[in-house]
Amino acid sequence: MSDLTPIVAPGDFPASRKSVYLNTASVCLMYSGAERVVVEWTHDLAENGTIHFDEAAEERAFATLHASAARLFNCRPEEIAVGSSATELLASLAWAVAPAAGSNIVSTSLEFPSTVYPWARVARHTGAEVRLGADDLIGLIDPGTAVVCVSDVIYITGQRLDVASLAEAARRNGALLVIDATQSAGGIPIDVGALGIDALITASYKWLCGPFGVAVMYLAPHLHERLEPGLVGFRSHERMWDLRADRLKLPPNAHRFEFSTMAYGCAPGLASSIDYLLRLDVGRIFSRNKKLADLLIEGLRERNAEVLSPTDDGARSSIVATRFADTDVRILAERLNEAGIVVSTRRNVLRFSPHLYNDSDDIQQALTAIDRCLT
Ligand SMILES: Cc1ncc(COP(=O)(O)O)c(C=O)c1O
Repeated sequence: MSDLTPIVAPGDFPASRKSVYLNTASVCLMYSGAERVVVEWTHDLAENGTIHFDEAAEERAFATLHASAARLFNCRPEEIAVGSSATELLASLAWAVAPAAGSNIVSTSLEFPSTVYPWARVARHTGAEVRLGADDLIGLIDPGTAVVCVSDVIYITGQRLDVASLAEAARRNGALLVIDATQSAGGIPIDVGALGIDALITASYKWLCGPFGVAVMYLAPHLHERLEPGLVGFRSHERMWDLRADRLKLPPNAHRFEFSTMAYGCAPGLASSIDYLLRLDVGRIFSRNKKLADLLIEGLRERNAEVLSPTDDGARSSIVATRFADTDVRILAERLNEAGIVVSTRRNVLRFSPHLYNDSDDIQQALTAIDRCLT
């Protein structure tokens, strides 16, 4: 099984030896290099305040993350905005787009709430309609559609949506395609230009192996000067140290969505984990993760489990959602967690999410623990 040999060095994720960690779709184990950057940055701020983190440093605080995220998504640094969470960036974007009464917003009923709530909130204010579909999303898109906002990987089952077809349908109807890549970025290669995506946001603390407290958004150039962010603050002005409250001129690029101070050290921390994943090659990580998922699916089927995640190549990720007849998955998950197999449940399914720090031994240990828990 040489293609499943470890690809990470022992010091990269020291915690991966303490448990069988199969819960990246909830929260990752953090790359140790990212943790180091955040801790050192925080310590330096605590000890030195503005002696080291002066105005010039604060202005440059996001530069490394702009560059790293641009390499991850194959775009330019000025097409990236940094925020404190995916939800914050999406909320600002939703107010910026503010679909009008008479228009509609298309998403799915399987979304994580944070992907839909910002649009629903804006729609309540403007009178736009929110359409939540399931299987036939493209059928919901019509000339009245202002925005299609979906996750490219659904958080419960790991199902991958056909982003290129959604982009085509959105473009044909004059709608924007907004992708929540929280369950894909870092685990699956993404090329925003090739896919025809208008905006993409991702959280940091799942497949990107970064810290909480930071998130990024890609914004296509045609939107840069068209959108006025829903959230603004002193950083929103094109020269942030201007500090005059009587004027606000937004930068002519995605950076206009950056508006305030934040846990700044998390930005270079996330840049460090993105650089690390890029060095290992996200395509290689994805193929290896799928092989781990295959081993798990095979073992689950041998145990008569129902596997709810798609297995055909175009529609799958490495998330595996499953359930067993006559078994309360929450109790099963509790027992697995007590046995050191870290998993979670979502809407009555048991969810496994192997990532680069797992190996075939982890899968075997999870299956053996399931046998023990079910007897
Ligand atoms: C698809 C998806 N989007 C967004 C989020 C939340 O992101 P954040 O915590 O950065 O707002 C989650 C968290 O589980 C998620 O699964």
